[in-house]
Amino acid sequence: MELRLDGEVAVVTGAAGGIGQGVASAMVEAGAGVALLDRDPAGLRAVSERIGANGKVTHHPVDVRDPAAVHAAIAAATETLGDPTVLVTAAAIDKAVNVVDLEIDVWREMLDINLSGTFFCLKAVIPGMLRRGRGRVIMFGSNIALKGGEEISPYGAAKAGVHGLARCAAIDLAPHKINVNVIAPGPVDTEMLYLFPDEWLAKKRGELLTGDFGRVDQIVPTVILLASEAGSFYTGSTLNVSGGDVLQ
Ligand SMILES: NC(=O)c1ccc[n+]([C@@H]2O[C@H](COP(=O)([O-])OP(=O)(O)OC[C@H]3O[C@@H](n4cnc5c(N)ncnc54)[C@H](O)[C@@H]3O)[C@@H](O)[C@H]2O)c1
Repeated sequence: MELRLDGEVAVVTGAAGGIGQGVASAMVEAGAGVALLDRDPAGLRAVSERIGANGKVTHHPVDVRDPAAVHAAIAAATETLGDPTVLVTAAAIDKAVNVVDLEIDVWREMLDINLSGTFFCLKAVIPGMLRRGRGRVIMFGSNIALKGGEEISPYGAAKAGVHGLARCAAIDLAPHKINVNVIAPGPVDTEMLYLFPDEWLAKKRGELLTGDFGRVDQIVPTVILLASEAGSFYTGSTLNVSGGDVLQ
């Protein structure tokens, strides 16, 4: 079965990063118009040049911590592509730090980007989804929110917040035919993973039931499913895509 997204308009945050660019590229292939958001302008431009040949891709350098900038980016994307029907929030940061040494600034930065930034993007797309009478929201959470992890407490707290936001928003948005789900990946081979020391990486790789870190192309199909008509019975769900890092 081929999953198609013809007629959909997707907003993808973290679109210059490993998973975000993979999602954006697959969405274009599936027929969607796609607005790319990221705080890395050069990375965004490169992704846009690579996947935007069909003229249905816009890119918007924006920091998701800034609600006014996010609102303006969605408004600009809407002008070109139409009201959004899909939101994928992949913008996030991570940092290895023991809770004993955790500085308040680091805590705030992690919560601001990973949790508040997710909410600001959700808030900005809701009016368009209401106008379209439907929507799919796919938030990137994390295996860490499900099982904890060492030296990763602000990230775990922010991602647990994302999981909670998605569940509650799924209830509030159900009357408007907007489905909200979370994907909680295990370790995936992107830049984010290599913030951790080699020793930790080797140990973690050995623990995975699949025997290796995930690849972006092993995460993307779940996003496309959730965005497509075939995914219409998923809402309020957390999908554990972790190579056996989390067993449920
Ligand atoms: N890679 C993993 O092992 C892993 C595991 C679990 C969950 N995740 C989640 O998957 C999602 C995608 O991660 P990834 O692996 O592609 O990471 P990545 O580091 O490759 O990409 C993250 C992107 O987010 C952007 N970004 C960061 N802060 C931003 C901000 N304030 N405003 C706008 N953009 C910002 C970065 O510029 C980058 O392009 C994230 O939510 C991450 O937490 C990743």
